[in-house]
Amino acid sequence: MPIFAEAQERLFRIRTAHTEYQMCADSYGVLKHLWYGVPVGHSMDYLRKYPDVGFAGNLYEAGNDRTYSLNTLPQEYAGAGVGDYRISAANVRHADGSQALDLRYQSYAIKPGKYSIPGLPAVYADAADAETLEITLRDAASGVEVVLQYGVLPELDIITRSAVFRNTGASPVVLQKAASLCLDLPDGTWEWMHFHGRHAMERMPERTALFHGVQESSSARGTSSHQQNPSVVLCAPDCTEQNGSCIGAFLMYSGSFQTQIELDQLDQVRLVMGLHPDLFAWTLQSGEEFHTPEAVFTYSDSGLAEMSQRFHKVIREHVCRGKYQLAERPVLINNWEATYFDFNEEKIWSIAKSAAELGVDMLVLDDGWFGKRDGDCSGLGDWDVNETKLRGGLGKLVDQVRSLGMQFGLWFEPEMISEDSDLYRSHPDWAIRIPDRAPMRSRYQLLLDMTRQEVQDYLYEKISGVLRSAAISYVKWDMNRSISDWYSATLPAAQQGELPHRYVLGLYALLERLTTEFPDVLFEGCSGGGGRFDAGMLYYCPQIWCSDDTDAYERTRIQYGTSMIYPISAVGSHVSVVPNHQTGRITPMETRGITAMAGSFGFELDLQKLSEEDKKTVAAQIKQFKEYGPLIHGGKYYRLSDPFTENSAFWSFVAQDDSEVLVQGVVFRTAPNMRRKALRLAGLCPESRYQDTASGEIYTGAALMHGGLLLPQTWGDYCPVMFHLKKIFA
Ligand code: DGJ
Repeated sequence: MPIFAEAQERLFRIRTAHTEYQMCADSYGVLKHLWYGVPVGHSMDYLRKYPDVGFAGNLYEAGNDRTYSLNTLPQEYAGAGVGDYRISAANVRHADGSQALDLRYQSYAIKPGKYSIPGLPAVYADAADAETLEITLRDAASGVEVVLQYGVLPELDIITRSAVFRNTGASPVVLQKAASLCLDLPDGTWEWMHFHGRHAMERMPERTALFHGVQESSSARGTSSHQQNPSVVLCAPDCTEQNGSCIGAFLMYSGSFQTQIELDQLDQVRLVMGLHPDLFAWTLQSGEEFHTPEAVFTYSDSGLAEMSQRFHKVIREHVCRGKYQLAERPVLINNWEATYFDFNEEKIWSIAKSAAELGVDMLVLDDGWFGKRDGDCSGLGDWDVNETKLRGGLGKLVDQVRSLGMQFGLWFEPEMISEDSDLYRSHPDWAIRIPDRAPMRSRYQLLLDMTRQEVQDYLYEKISGVLRSAAISYVKWDMNRSISDWYSATLPAAQQGELPHRYVLGLYALLERLTTEFPDVLFEGCSGGGGRFDAGMLYYCPQIWCSDDTDAYERTRIQYGTSMIYPISAVGSHVSVVPNHQTGRITPMETRGITAMAGSFGFELDLQKLSEEDKKTVAAQIKQFKEYGPLIHGGKYYRLSDPFTENSAFWSFVAQDDSEVLVQGVVFRTAPNMRRKALRLAGLCPESRYQDTASGEIYTGAALMHGGLLLPQTWGDYCPVMFHLKKIFA
């Protein structure tokens, strides 16, 4: 198995197929981080020799040895307040008001299988495919113990981490910071890539050199957010898609988070990732414990493509769950951009009819079907069908849609409450707000206090009631604002700092209850598009609406950034009308189809309004997605060009057994007398031969990877390109 403990040296080695991770507890019990990289088969402790660094501070037990300092040593989980002045992984306030956490090694255990985390999503695996290492550290003065948990999936080159805090002392303590991952990289030069953005423009990759000091990517919005994503990549400067070293990490969490990277005075790098410490304070009474969310990471010495493929695999096969985890996803049509709030049952019925004729599998009825919801000022919380709009009720409409051979899906925004709603009129106290302060509104709405059991029960009863009342096969779980005014009447004053995390725990509890009760329903996550696109949500919802921006050009960028971490099957992606509703841009129907197909495919328009030619294109796209869907979702994904720096976005899907390749992309602009360019493919077998299924042309893998595929002469802007090649086995 992958975990080796060399008891005498207190050396721990985690060996995966292509990586090695090392740490050791030294003679003072400090758990030093030694190595993360390619397998070395040797203790890397010999590299950890430090001089006397001015103002570094020395461990008391080290006596007059001025070279031993917590401020210089790479550590596995850095405490705070005891002489390591770099970013800490954890910080505790004790009953006497002091803040210190001096963690020393106590014991270890190796367990078969992968640990799980109570109330939180975590990577899961069969006992035979994973192993867990637990290392217990202890702050002797207070009795606070921290159990570092490492989950290892050796074949996938994936390591996970989570920490358990235990108060074994007699007095209560307050956790002020409790990170999931602390990773010290004492050697090498690193750049970092993080994913920033805004509403309708999520996960824009930004790669820069590290500066000395602390750089951060975080969200304090109560959700993982459009603005920053809980994921990060450290790259060697020469790291490309196919070559070079990188370490990727993501947090499986949907609330506020913080990723910090420090380049210290000795040019050493520390990465810390976990719960955002602002607005967080968790009281641990004597005997209580606290579990952090899980961080998942991998090291690749073959570039970003390899890193992404490992993340895609671990998320698809060990995070997502349920009937739709690996199943083909229905091609759906959503009425949002076709009607917004302005619909009735006849309009929906006619959209469904035209969609059925073209081969769409499912109609999704978006916002506006319930309560008094004719706009976004009212109705949230009143999850009863609006019979003025849907005469005859939901059941009748669902039956009608199903009579077309289509499934039916429905939109909810469970965590919200409109002040103009029956729910608010009867339970104003269920909204999150601070007494005697006016709450901040966003999209006119307030949030429900998800920590309250009666709120969870109300939502469970309402949503399950609707799902039981008709044959509903899909739920779109939306969330359209960031959180503020943190206060819960259910928590004592000293524990209000627990609310942001308890909110997420409440959300997860409700999702767990509903997804367990309705295993056949496909849940799609959403937060104004991709404002909560994280692996925590993917544990409950195998796909997430990627962005409210459906412009094909913008989507190539959004999906490029998203693909660094998240699998293609997770990316909800729809064809919409032109001019595009978010940008006014006009792109060809084929281009919109190709871009949307690189995801969980659907449409978001009124198909009746299309020209006959466009309708034919739509029908062909649906056929294509049904044919290539398993390859798109199950294949190895390669980014073949960078839409931020090049005149094109290209990507490919290579079958796991290498038997076929689908190449898709968009050439953004055509210039006069443009030379036909070649697109170099990736991930093929150099000696094998591949045949273009359209032209019949045969190439070797080496020719396609080094010379490339000759792209067509383009005409106009945003030109779609697609090739399908099959390996010749003869
Ligand atoms: C935001 C979502 O991202 C949209 O797709 C749509 O569902 C609206 N909310 C509805 O209010």
